[in-house]
This record gives sequence, C-alpha cells and structure tokens, in this order.
Amino acid sequence: MKFLSDQGNTSAAVIGMGYVGSTVAAVLAGEGVDVVGIDVNPALVAALEQRRCWFSEPGLPELLYSGLDSGRLRVTTDYDLVSGVDVVIIAVSTPVRDTELVDVPLRTACTELAGHLREGQLVILKSTVPPGVSRNLVAPLLEGGGLKVGEDFGLAFCPERLSEGQALHELRTFPIAIGGWCPDSVAAAGAFWRRTIGAEIISCASMESAEMVKLASNWWIDHNIAMANELATLCAVLDVDVLEVISATNTMRKGTGNVNILLPSVGVGGSCLTKDPWMVWRAARDRDVELDTIPVAREVNDSMPGYTVDLIVEELARFGKKLEEAKIAVLGVAFKNNTGDLRATPALPIVTGLQQGGAEVAIFDPLADSGEVKKTFGLAPVETAREALSGADCIAVLARHDEFDDIDFVALRESVAPSCVIIDGRAYYSRETIGRFRRHGFAYRGIGR
Ligand SMILES: NC(=O)c1ccc[n+]([C@@H]2O[C@H](COP(=O)([O-])OP(=O)(O)OC[C@H]3O[C@@H](n4cnc5c(N)ncnc54)[C@H](O)[C@@H]3O)[C@@H](O)[C@H]2O)c1
Repeated sequence: MKFLSDQGNTSAAVIGMGYVGSTVAAVLAGEGVDVVGIDVNPALVAALEQRRCWFSEPGLPELLYSGLDSGRLRVTTDYDLVSGVDVVIIAVSTPVRDTELVDVPLRTACTELAGHLREGQLVILKSTVPPGVSRNLVAPLLEGGGLKVGEDFGLAFCPERLSEGQALHELRTFPIAIGGWCPDSVAAAGAFWRRTIGAEIISCASMESAEMVKLASNWWIDHNIAMANELATLCAVLDVDVLEVISATNTMRKGTGNVNILLPSVGVGGSCLTKDPWMVWRAARDRDVELDTIPVAREVNDSMPGYTVDLIVEELARFGKKLEEAKIAVLGVAFKNNTGDLRATPALPIVTGLQQGGAEVAIFDPLADSGEVKKTFGLAPVETAREALSGADCIAVLARHDEFDDIDFVALRESVAPSCVIIDGRAYYSRETIGRFRRHGFAYRGIGR
C-alpha cells in the first residue's frame, strides 16, 4: 500500500489532545497502536502525565491511564515525534465566530506538521470543517514542508461523529466515513481504521463529500431537536405529554428506518451543535445558496432557556411565590446529561435569568469541575445535593446525570420548602416517578409535560 506499511505494528500521532483527540488516542492505544498525543497546551499534557484527565467521559480516564502506564500512549507538546509514526490524526479545535471558521488552530497545526512529515505517511483530518477546507487549506499547508500530497504523503478526511457521554462506545462502533485526496489515501485510511478499531468503512467520493457527512449529521440533529422543542411547547398548552407523543410517533416506519423525533429539553449546547450548523450555513451563503432551516432551528433551540425560566416563574406563581423570593436548586449545569462539559451550556442563560429575576440559586453538578463552574457561572457550586435542596422552592434538573439516581427528592421532602416544584429539564422522569413526586406534595413540570 502506498501510504501505510503492511508490516509491523501501526503507530499514530494525534494532534490536539482535547476531548476528541484524547478519546481517539486512548481507544487506539487500547487496540495496541503506539500513539503519541501532541497538544500545544503544556498544562493539558502535564495533567495527562500526572494521570489527571480533564474530560468527564465514562471509561476515558481509565483507558488513558492504562495506555500511559503501558507506554503505548505518550503525550508531549513536541511535534518532533511525528516523523516516527505511520498515521497522523488531526483533532484540533475548529471554533466558529460570527458564522466564520476560526482556522488559527488548524493552520498552526498544519504549518507545524509540514516541517515534520516524511514520505509514506498518511494524514487524517478529524476536526469538523466547512466543505473544501481539507483540499484548499489543509493540503497546501501540509505541502509547505516540500512533500507532495497524493505522491509523498496521503490525506483523508474522516469526520468524528461521537457524542459526549457515550464516546468510547460510539468511536468503536460507528461506521467511519472516508473522503480522500486520492484512491491511495482512501485505501490507506480504510486499512488503518479496519486494522485498529475494526470499524465499518463508508467510502465517500471526495473529501468534500465526507466533510458534508459530518455537517449534515449535526444539521439534522439540531433541526430535529428544534422540532421536538416546538412540539413540546405546543403539547404543554394542550396538556398532552410530549414524550408519549414522541414515543408513539417513533414507532412508525419511514424511509430506511423509523420516524425518530429526538427529545425536547432546556436547550441545545456543547461545542458542536451550536457551531456546526452555522458552519454549513456560511458555506452555503458563500456559494449564494440560502439555507433557511438553519437559522430557524438555531433560534428555536436558543429560545429554550428563556422558555425554562418562564416555566419556573409560572410554577412558582401558582404557589404565590415571586422569583425574587425563591430559592432554586439547580441540579446539573453541564450542556447535557452525563457529561461535565460546560461549553455553551443552556444552563448558563437559565441561571443568569433566574439570578437577574432576583432568585437565590444553588448549583450542584458532580461531573462538572467546580473551578470551571465558578468561572462560568460566577457562583461556586455546593458540594452535595442535600445542600442545594435545603429550603428550595424549586428543584430544576437541567442535566440529569446517572449520579442523581441516588438522590431521592421524596426522602429529602422535609428539607425543601412546603410547596416545591420539580422542573424536569432533561430528566424525562417516568409517569410512576412523577406520580410519586405528586403524592409527596411536589408540583411537577417538564418541557412539554
Ligand atoms: N467534542 C465533541 O463532542 C466533538 C464531536 C465530534 C467532533 N468534534 C470536533 O472535533 C474537533 C476537536 O473538538 P474537541 O471537542 O476535542 O476540542 P477541544 O477544544 O476539547 O480540543 C482541541 C485541542 O486542540 C489543541 N490544539 C489547538 N491548537 C493546536 C495545535 N496547533 N497543535 C496541537 N494541539 C492544538 C487544544 O489545546 C485542545 O486541547 C473540533 O473540530 C470539533 O468540532 C467534537
């Protein structure tokens, strides 16, 4: 094979050891690949060397530490080690500002890499990028070191489609889409993923096609959730449980699968769904194509934190309580369930809205780093759920982590206010659980429930 040797153990460098890079590096090392993880942030590298993982992803710290302990995984800030590996995977951040890609991390990484590439290597871009970036930005920058793409080294775009909370499982099982500079690049990338993760491969006709696979995925998710959120706001006024509607609707076959309406919630956050739709919208606009559904879906999803604050105010008013007199226990401030990631979390505008209305807010989130919570919310989190709930007029579950299974609101009934409302922002409590809350004197409202 032109770009990947058939002999011996495969080795890889992962450029950018953030959330995605750490996951990819840990999984590859777990599969026996010799991996070097390279990041420009010395604090991140030092933390990993001291067996401190910054990302609260189930199973990730253990996998990283076992890779580091076995020597299969090494971490460094030094690009020199790149020349010794077979495959270089780029997973640096690709943020968007005002709909435009901020390409500085990608440019810096590619420029640095160019000086370290050697003949026969394969470069795989995993960072999410607008269509055309692999060909028009990454390839020329990598060629800056004198080697020619397609001749001296291979280049492929393989979008990362994992989501936080189930990243390890998804990385090991999701089919991998590959778009390559040339057939040899596609063949080498396919061989690499089959040999290491054993993944099913989907070959795309071009790098642009593979770039669009990622963008279409997140466009669909954001759009689908916007529909679920609007459905929820309608169900709320019809006194219909949106979850009942969704689960019954989703039994209908359509196309190659079932209708699959996702779940409504207090809003869409995280580093991908809040930016990727804008990336594709901007790519379309630059080519004189207007994508109307993207701004609409973004607007709907961005309106959900305000909707949640209004819901809390409305429920408190039923008990004659004003927001400025209320204590709100906020459980879970991460952008979704079972992650500690606070990036673009919808909990932030909710907490801000509650505080601006004069409420006293107590935050509890066992997965989020307490220093990060303090920095993001300007409020130190409390250490226990009991502390947060003490005297609360409202328990707002904005992200429901598995750790919350142990918190029994009913058992803590005496410590909350006599009239206390549970706001179910993303817990999706069962009918039985809601019935139990109500029997013990709690009011309950969910998004569309
Ligand atoms: N987080 C997710 O759930 C997810 C899922 C799929 C795809 N993605 C995409 O994957 C990419 C990475 O996302 P992430 O969440 O891991 O971001 P992140 O911010 O957690 O990690 C990016 C890392 O790259 C490092 N970096 C920046 N410039 C560098 C350089 N020149 N050389 C080496 N390291 C450099 C940063 O220090 C950081 O540690 C983005 O394009 C994102 O859109 C993310």
